[in-house]
Amino acid sequence: AKDPVRVLVTGAAGQIGYALVPMIARGVMLGADQALILHMLDIPPAAEALNGVKMELVDAAFPLLKGVVATTDVVEACTGVNIAVMVGGFPRKEGMERKDVMAKNVSIYKAQASALEQHAAPNCKVLVVANPANTNALILKEFAPSIPAKNITCLTRLDHNRALGQISERLNVQVFDVKNAIIWGNHSSTQYPDVNHATVLTPAGEKPVRELVTDDEWLNGGFITTVQQRGAAIIKARKLSSALSAASSACDHIRDWVLGTPEGTWVSMGVYSDGSYNVPAGLIYSFPVVCSGGEWSIVQGKAEHPRTRF
Ligand code: NAI
Repeated sequence: AKDPVRVLVTGAAGQIGYALVPMIARGVMLGADQALILHMLDIPPAAEALNGVKMELVDAAFPLLKGVVATTDVVEACTGVNIAVMVGGFPRKEGMERKDVMAKNVSIYKAQASALEQHAAPNCKVLVVANPANTNALILKEFAPSIPAKNITCLTRLDHNRALGQISERLNVQVFDVKNAIIWGNHSSTQYPDVNHATVLTPAGEKPVRELVTDDEWLNGGFITTVQQRGAAIIKARKLSSALSAASSACDHIRDWVLGTPEGTWVSMGVYSDGSYNVPAGLIYSFPVVCSGGEWSIVQGKAEHPRTRF
């Protein structure tokens, strides 16, 4: 059997955390043959709730789960972790200026960056989910210079999956048969969901989405705004944020990064820019990527509409 992998989830007492930790413990993230030890971090006001989540993890008797560390100590949380999913953070609240949120997150992500840098396993892979996700990932990268930049990513897979979902609903096809959408840019309403290279597997073979969806007005308008504003639509409907789909997409992100993307398929990941597509080098930006051997690489030559909004 493989040695257990240590997976950290920060903000684990929150909504996404509650949806995410059972998925991880079931093997959705790393595969059904990978044992794991879950590390869960939250802040002292949430310590009791965090302990409740730990109790439920024990009660669920997950066969793959070899241990649970539930703590409010960032060093203990980060020690020896192979994968870190950063869900905790300070969200923007009503009446708060952007710079106030930014200042709070700089101090949180600075502390977590140095704890990961000093105590995580070598080659630890980091996924930032907490908003502003691209910025938090950038802060983490700046304050953990000894972690390779390629190991620090942010989640835009939820937006990617939302794009696939919209196409599948529109065409009344299985979402599994839709692939190769691209989310360019930030996990925010300025992102550009791009279906110009997306395809659908039909009984007659693989067809471009642009050929199957003849309503260009929808593809260039309603489709894009629906994907961009889906998070807000779910908050409106549920009175809570999109925790289930965020958790599932976080598992997809790590699974594909670690185990590889299928042949002929790319996914969207927020990664540091090497200057591809004229995106300034060093920014954390969502690109189409393929993964193999635990490494992502940016798919080149897919921008019919180069983005200029930085
Ligand atoms: P939540 O408020 O239910 O949970 C956040 C948890 O983080 C809380 O338990 C809180 O105590 C904890 N926390 C706060 N500061 C912390 C710190 N310094 N260290 C450790 N834990 C800390 O929020 P929810 O719904 O779980 O969302 C979490 C984040 O994910 C938010 O920032 C949200 O905007 C973001 N998000 C990102 C998505 C994406 O696609 N990238 C999609 C949906 C949400």
